[in-house]
Formats: sequence, C-alpha cells, structure tokens
Amino acid sequence: MNIEQSIAAHYGDETFGKRLLEALSASGLDINRLSPDELAPIDEFHIGGRLATAELAAQLGLRPGLKLLDVGSGIGGPARYFAHAFGCEVIGIDLTEAFVRIATDLTRRASLSDRVKFQQGSALDLPFEAASFDGATMLHVGMNIDDKPRLCRAVRKVLRPGAFFGIYDLMRTGPGDIEFPVPWSSRPETSFVVEPSVYRAALEAAGFTLSKERNRRDFALDFFRDMQAKAKAAGGGASPLGPALIMGPEFKDKLRHVVEAIERGAIAPIELIARVP
Ligand SMILES: C[S@@+](CC[C@H](N)C(=O)[O-])C[C@H]1O[C@@H](n2cnc3c(N)ncnc32)[C@H](O)[C@@H]1O
Repeated sequence: MNIEQSIAAHYGDETFGKRLLEALSASGLDINRLSPDELAPIDEFHIGGRLATAELAAQLGLRPGLKLLDVGSGIGGPARYFAHAFGCEVIGIDLTEAFVRIATDLTRRASLSDRVKFQQGSALDLPFEAASFDGATMLHVGMNIDDKPRLCRAVRKVLRPGAFFGIYDLMRTGPGDIEFPVPWSSRPETSFVVEPSVYRAALEAAGFTLSKERNRRDFALDFFRDMQAKAKAAGGGASPLGPALIMGPEFKDKLRHVVEAIERGAIAPIELIARVP
C-alpha cells in the first residue's frame, strides 16, 4: 500500500455510511429530508466543527455563483455549508472513495446536488482545467500530505487570478512528540504536521500572496472543553452523533492525544489565507 492508499484506508470504513444513516434516524431526523444544519454535528470533521468553517468562510468573500474547490472534502460538511449559506457552486475532491460516496448521498438528501458535487482524487494531482475555480478551501487535510510545495502548485494551477486559497490545518507550533493515534492518522508514517513557515514558503513558491494568518489554539481548547462538558452533562451516555461515529473505536485516544499536543503547545490549528495575484 502506498501512502495515499494507507490514508484512504485510515478514513474509509465501509460500514460508516450505513451507521451514519442509522445514527441520524436514531437522533430523530428524517434521513430523506436533511438540512445542512442538522448534519453539522457530524459532517464537519475538523476542530471547531461548523463554527470553525463559518469563521473561515466569513473571511473569504463568498458569494452566489462563486466556483469553489474544497480540497479533501471528507463527507462534505464544509462544501454543503458554502453552497447553502452563500450560494457557491462547490466541487469537493477527496482521496477516500467511501467518503465521496457518503458526501454525495448526504448532499442528495439535503437537496443540494445541483450545486455541490464530489469526486475521488488526490489533492496532489487535481483533475480539473487550469484557472477554473474562483477559490479553494482545505480544512484539516494538509496533515496527511507530505509534499506541501506540490499541493500548493496543484491548487494554484486550477485557480483564476484574484482567487483565494483558505487553509485551516493543524500545524507544528513548538517542540514535543505527537502521540498516536490522532484523528488524521493512526501512525507517524502518514502524519505530516509542519510549521506554518513551511506552508508559507510552499504557497509563495507556487505564486500565491499571503493575506492572513491566525492561530486558533484558544478557540480549539474552548471547543474541546465545551465538548467534554456536553458529554458530562449527557451523563456519559454516548450520543448517536458523537465523535465515535466518524473516528471509530479509538476515538477517545485520538482526541486525548490531539488535545494534549495542543495544550503542550506542540501543535495548533492555524488559518492561512492566500491569494492569486
Ligand atoms: C480530517 S478529514 C477532513 C475532511 C473535511 N475537510 C472536513 O473538514 O470535514 C481529512 C480528509 O482529507 C482527505 N485527504 C487526505 N489526503 C488527501 C489527498 N492527498 N487528497 C485528497 N484528499 C485527501 C481524507 O480522505 C479525509 O477525508
């Protein structure tokens, strides 16, 4: 198995789609008429969930008809939000075939298939025409991609002049080990967490101009505190839409390791917004 196959295998659990629909039903939702807001507790697979997506989106100047590429789109939460809240036309690309299938199915159930599409593929080899998008987003994906210069070149190529690239990734902010498993990888060989300076250099070398950078450490720690408080208030009973659903049986270790690394200052979620001149 090469690195990309291992990463897709880490995320792609064939039973997840079925379990997800059962969990949505068990939480009282009509799975044939789902709204993006109802899906938000489970379809935003990054620290801060929907709020983090909304806070990134607010800085991007999204508008109706804008053609957006979501790189590493997962099961499609951010893509559906950009289409539903701002009227964008979104294409999501993701390595993990099972996620692409689930993203497409949820989008149909949320009546957004006319504006949001997903396809399987790699961020390093984007199968789109040059200069065909007005913007790109990438949330919690770069931790799985070693070759940041190639990633930035691939995204730059499909963007038009004036387009943006909004990144929200976990990045290295200090020394210290990361314990595994973490949500994006069960082992060090498929984890590539690097300093913001590595992203900046890769973006600039690909022809982007950096416009904003924001460290979201405090936001992340508040998010995890809130998550713990809600779990405690629920009396320890697992919610059908809890993190176990998407992260699997090791979810407690995965979350603990990421929280500890953020608390120690080894890593933090960082937003970087770059533009094509
Ligand atoms: C933590 S999930 C984030 C999903 C989504 N961006 C979100 O925030 O809900 C990481 C996603 O990146 C995808 N991914 C990892 N490496 C990739 C690559 N080289 N090309 C495309 N997708 C990739 C994985 O398959 C997975 O769906």
